[in-house]
Amino acid sequence: MRKPFIAANWKMYKTTGETNDFIKDFLPAVSSATDVDIVLAPPFTSLPLAAGLLKGSNVNLSAQDIYFEKEGAYTGEISSGMLVDIGCQYVIIGHSERRQYFNEDDETVNKKIKAAKEAGLGVIFCIGETIEEREGGKTEDIIKREVDGGLKDISPDNLVVAYEPIWAIGTGKTATPEIAQETHAFVRARLKALYNDKADDLRILYGGSVKPENISELMTKPDVDGALVGGASLKADSFSKIVNFK
Ligand code: 13P
Repeated sequence: MRKPFIAANWKMYKTTGETNDFIKDFLPAVSSATDVDIVLAPPFTSLPLAAGLLKGSNVNLSAQDIYFEKEGAYTGEISSGMLVDIGCQYVIIGHSERRQYFNEDDETVNKKIKAAKEAGLGVIFCIGETIEEREGGKTEDIIKREVDGGLKDISPDNLVVAYEPIWAIGTGKTATPEIAQETHAFVRARLKALYNDKADDLRILYGGSVKPENISELMTKPDVDGALVGGASLKADSFSKIVNFK
């Protein structure tokens, strides 16, 4: 049985004060949710504060990106080791917004995953197609390219995969549970090609307009093992409802 994994990606939202307020409301609302892995990914500036507030709780901490070098003259960048140092357990890598606005390709994503895992961070690896790619019948080609390229020479331990169709991100258009299941099954088949039976233990999250109203139905699907939530994770009330979906 795969333990559900529900993560909040706050993107470029929340000051430290807002982070503090959220966590104070959120922790009591999810304290009895022990049969689910819960992760918050605030922006870099809130990570040290969040690490302190989450210590000893049932909620883990994630960053939203890293640079793949250990250290050096890379103005503006943050390394995996720096995240481990402040008490981060995970990092999101390959989000479509990084691929789209910051030109990250599969090779860069692969280097970042390697660096994160070497430093001991868990990785939430994101993949997904655009609407043009889906309508053009290219979804499976894109997923194959992203999975094979991103996970080249990467072991499956401490790895979580997030399928986020770009057309469903921030649009209010959730993939139907059937579309999510069909695509997740294809993702798992690709993971099986890389990892054999170990692919059965990997969590595949769905992301794209997940809300308290649609999480339960998505989670009934056999290959949907959790969610990566953007907009609906910004309020403690709505994200705690998603975590407590059962
Ligand atoms: P929304 O939940 O706002 O659609 O964002 C999904 C996402 O990109 C999470 O990483």
